[in-house]
Amino acid sequence: MSQVTEYSEKVMDHFTNPRNVGELEDASGVGTVGNAKCGDIMRMYLAIDEDGVVTEAKFKTFGCGAAVATSSMATELVKGKTVQEAMNVTNKAVMEALDGLPPVKVHCSLLAEEAIHAALWDYSQKSGVQIQGLKEPVADIDEIEH
Ligand code: FES
Repeated sequence: MSQVTEYSEKVMDHFTNPRNVGELEDASGVGTVGNAKCGDIMRMYLAIDEDGVVTEAKFKTFGCGAAVATSSMATELVKGKTVQEAMNVTNKAVMEALDGLPPVKVHCSLLAEEAIHAALWDYSQKSGVQIQGLKEPVADIDEIEH
């Protein structure tokens, strides 16, 4: 992916018109993560059916524009996927779907990935369903660069 220095049209679209903002009352999994770098916080709600397919995804964030745009895109990408496939919705996948992010904003996209993982972890704990490659979420995202 070539380096981008400003926000793509897709980022601006998802920032000004974010999809899936809100909460799910009967979520199958809820995950909250914080970014230690900037103090921003994100909560992700997933509804997962008996076949292990994500049927709904919502998010709330106290975060910057890039965090809003990446969470919006991430919720769009996880919907309709199995919980195992949802593991492939990495920050890189989200950034590609948004046509890139400026390098200084890459850490923001980690918030979305980590929030999905935290929600999947919560689901896995409650349902006993194992998800390959899923690790217990960290409370604060520090300098993890994937
Ligand atoms: Fe905090 Fe972007 S600056 S998530």
